[in-house]
Amino acid sequence: MKYHNCYHHNEWPWGKSVTIITKDGTGMVNMDFEKSNPGVCYVSELSVLPQCRKQGIATYLMHECIDYCLTDNLENHDNPIFRIDINSVMESFVMDFYHKLGFEDIEESNGYMKMYKIIVPTKPIVLK
Ligand SMILES: CC(C)(COP(=O)(O)OP(=O)(O)OC[C@H]1O[C@@H](n2cnc3c(N)ncnc32)[C@H](O)[C@@H]1OP(=O)(O)O)[C@@H](O)C(=O)NCCC(=O)NCCS
Repeated sequence: MKYHNCYHHNEWPWGKSVTIITKDGTGMVNMDFEKSNPGVCYVSELSVLPQCRKQGIATYLMHECIDYCLTDNLENHDNPIFRIDINSVMESFVMDFYHKLGFEDIEESNGYMKMYKIIVPTKPIVLK
């Protein structure tokens, strides 16, 4: 693994959030798992320090989110994550970046592009 991360887990009345920050503080991303939206991970706050951009840090952080959901699925069979949602800023390189990661557009809303990616488990999930 190229970077080391800090994972901050928080429990909230509405669900849980996990924030990943690279240990050197160069980038971060947040994942929300809402009880009212089971099976969905909402990714937000993806940001990299301006002087550290274009080095693959955001790409790495997004792969960490996807890996987190896949790992969580193997441990949490009651509530598997099947989709990641994102509201992308309407900047073409950012939208291209998400498309390359497998995200698809849903619709433009309030100046953002709503996108989603289906999570395909690496092992079969046995639902109870
Ligand atoms: C968007 C952001 C997170 C990208 O971070 P990053 O670490 O520079 O991204 P990466 O190095 O992983 O690059 C991802 C891709 O975007 C491209 N890219 C990054 N910055 C770019 C720029 N300013 N112009 C054009 N392309 C750019 C890279 O070349 C790369 O493309 P590739 O996969 O074809 O090589 C960063 O620019 C940022 O923090 N912006 C401000 C916050 C923001 O807009 N967040 C997104 C919220 S939806």
